[in-house]
Amino acid sequence: MYISSQQSLVSFNSFALNVTAQQLAVVTCEADLEQFELPQDKPHFILAGGSNLLFCENFDGVLLKPELTGKEVIDDGDAWLIRVGAGENWHEFVTWCLAQGYFGLENLALIPGCVGATPVQNIGAYGVEVKDFIEQVKAFDLTQRQWQWMSKDDCQFGYRDSVFKHAFKDSHVIVEVTYRLPKQWQPVISYGDLKALTPSASASEIYDLVCQVRSQKLPDPSELGNAGSFFKNPAVPEAQAQALAIAYPDMPIYDTAIAGQKKLAAGWLIDQCGLKGRKVGGAQVHQQQALVLVNTGAASAKDVVELAWLVRTQVAERFGVLLEHEVRFIGAQGETNLDEMMLKYEHQALEAECGE
Ligand code: EPU
Repeated sequence: MYISSQQSLVSFNSFALNVTAQQLAVVTCEADLEQFELPQDKPHFILAGGSNLLFCENFDGVLLKPELTGKEVIDDGDAWLIRVGAGENWHEFVTWCLAQGYFGLENLALIPGCVGATPVQNIGAYGVEVKDFIEQVKAFDLTQRQWQWMSKDDCQFGYRDSVFKHAFKDSHVIVEVTYRLPKQWQPVISYGDLKALTPSASASEIYDLVCQVRSQKLPDPSELGNAGSFFKNPAVPEAQAQALAIAYPDMPIYDTAIAGQKKLAAGWLIDQCGLKGRKVGGAQVHQQQALVLVNTGAASAKDVVELAWLVRTQVAERFGVLLEHEVRFIGAQGETNLDEMMLKYEHQALEAECGE
């Protein structure tokens, strides 16, 4: 385990915000976790690729970063079982699978981050969610100090959601994910841009198109700091969706797995408010995809939080829909949210005024 103090996190978060952590502990083997003592006097947070996080301020605790690597393939008759270390880069893993002839993950190409974060977030794109391919997750329970092998059901997957964001938040460190990729491969080409492909499209053709579409619409975090979709696509009651469809006939509305509920496109709602390109300090609503907030270079965390607040307020005023952020907000003491951070900034401003 490597431990560093007052560590700059600029290269550990895809927003490239210049914040620090009191300590960063990098886990390179399972024994590291068995020996790790949870700090009693300060918070801790489990960091993966840092590509779905917003560090809202300096973190006053220990960041635990699993960097275990390695891949193992098991032939399970009708499927390949692939065990992968949590620290492996996701896109490199997807690319490797394709080259080996293990298909199924191609729709999820070019999603930034590590293998270990894929179940936490239940990453999804172009009609596929990673939960459809997860067989097992191996995690170390820091509170019980024991290993756990969790099935797909144990993970309680939802839209961009899992047990690792709720009951097992901060307690379970994922070290390995096992994916099940059926040998009988079925292309998924029913989503948006992929409809242009023919039903005989190969996994490589899907992969190439997904990479092309993502590179056109989504900014590359190594060039323009961002954390992908900033907000979730909001679910609304069917009656509200119907009323909105009458008022806005062009509004995209999607079915959901839940009866009586429809999903709206957050990017469309933000775009309709005329917010593409809108700036607060160094933070900006991306010009090509309104669902993404970017750091144009010198954004502070506060700039990004205030821009998110502006976006949420304008969408709520225009459409009566409250956007929820998909990006996880991390404050000085651990996970927080947009409302809490705005309150904190207001308090800080008041204190500064009183102190003058
Ligand atoms: N739209 C606009 N203006 C915009 C953005 C979108 O009008 O600025 C419209 C599009 O024309 C389309 C609809 O909104 O009719 C939906 O847009 P798109 O198909 O680009 O996808 P999305 O709903 O914005 C979701 C995921 C992405 C994922 C894509 C493709 C969420 C929150 N986002 O975006 O995931 O790549 O679908 O499957 O579910 C991520 O999670 O970080 C992410 C990028």
